[in-house]
Amino acid sequence: MEVIKITGCKRLKGTIEIGGAKNSAVSLVPAAILSDTVKITNVPNISDINALTQILEYLGVSVQKDKNEMIINSDNLENKPITLEQSKKLRASCYFMGALLGKYKHAEMYFPGGCSIGERPIDLHLSGFEQLGAKVKLVDGKYIVDAEKLVGADINLRFASVGATINILLASVLAEGKTIIRNAAREPEVGNVIDLLNNMGAKITGKDTSVLQIEGVKELKGGEIAVIPDRIEAGTYIIAGVMTGENLKIANVIPEHFSGLTKVLKEMGADIKIYNDYVIVNKVPHLKAVDIVTEPYPGFPTDLQQPITSLLTQADGESTVTENIYENRFQNVPYLVQMGADIKVQGRMIKIKGPIKLTGGEVVTTDLRAGAALILAALAADGETTIKEIKHVLRGYENIINKLRAVGGEISLEDV
Ligand code: UD1
Repeated sequence: MEVIKITGCKRLKGTIEIGGAKNSAVSLVPAAILSDTVKITNVPNISDINALTQILEYLGVSVQKDKNEMIINSDNLENKPITLEQSKKLRASCYFMGALLGKYKHAEMYFPGGCSIGERPIDLHLSGFEQLGAKVKLVDGKYIVDAEKLVGADINLRFASVGATINILLASVLAEGKTIIRNAAREPEVGNVIDLLNNMGAKITGKDTSVLQIEGVKELKGGEIAVIPDRIEAGTYIIAGVMTGENLKIANVIPEHFSGLTKVLKEMGADIKIYNDYVIVNKVPHLKAVDIVTEPYPGFPTDLQQPITSLLTQADGESTVTENIYENRFQNVPYLVQMGADIKVQGRMIKIKGPIKLTGGEVVTTDLRAGAALILAALAADGETTIKEIKHVLRGYENIINKLRAVGGEISLEDV
């Protein structure tokens, strides 16, 4: 069994380079099958991309990977049902539903997997497909989505869902006529997908706004896109810097993409200097408690809620975190409490009293960002921490051990 071992209280100094955004890359890869050849650069080396590559290869798609570049050629694509095992491996498998439906007017797959952080239904995706003219059947757990033809529609999302926005985009770019997505997600990852689709010949306007207009086109050609920097990876290391950094530089970032985080950190009194494409972070002796509420972009991202909870254990006074997006995203809390934190869960809110000296121990990762949160806590804790079930972390953080080690973290991957 592989575990991460961390000896805490080392100051992090130097530079951490941020890679391509996981949540962009996992949408761009399925989007690529809408045309013949697509080149994607700045792809992070994470296990979620490997899982998608396996699905592509199963469908007969040729994938050339070289470091952070992928060339995807779909000339020999065969529209087969995506298996239960493939569907369950990750949430982003669901993007094959939109892409296959858009291209072939038919898709078959099972309910997608992903971190267990709440119910995570796909009703908005399916309702979007239905409004475009598809029929959805659920047979023995498998979704069969089929359309004689797809026709543009005016779709109003009940919630600004990232997944539903992207999936409806994928299904509508080749539909007849015009589609409007209202209350669309404005996350930068959606914009990255729009840029790729437009590079491929799609006609989508309204990027970065909550109303997207898609003028259907007859076919898409090859295209190229660079994955945007990962704002959640950046945010995680920025928080690490606030906890234990000494002139820690987080490079290759788009600071505007994590303004929800930096606003909160400034309110706490953190020492964070923001430049064009990098930030510099220093630990300060005292931080103020804050109240955080997770919201769709550009609000405070749910994906940084667990990581910042580790930091809040170090702030003076009582902080609160209200999780508005997912109902079960506090699974890191019992382990933080085991490490000494004073945290009470009250429904969708947690109350954190600090500052508390954290102590290392043996903890378990339950989901991707819970894992990041435990790594941050361990970096600031006295003594050694062993973190189990690290597969969750490796799904979404490229090279996390080497990146932290290179800036002075005492962290290693061990087989025990
Ligand atoms: C994506 C991200 C995830 C991030 C989340 C919110 C990927 C692969 N994952 O997940 O890291 O935490 O955005 O920023 O990009 N909902 C419904 N019905 C639906 C779809 C969603 O009720 O059909 C609800 C969800 O249960 C949740 C909320 O909408 O409460 C947000 O979900 P959504 O934005 O769709 O998240 P994902 O795309 O799954």
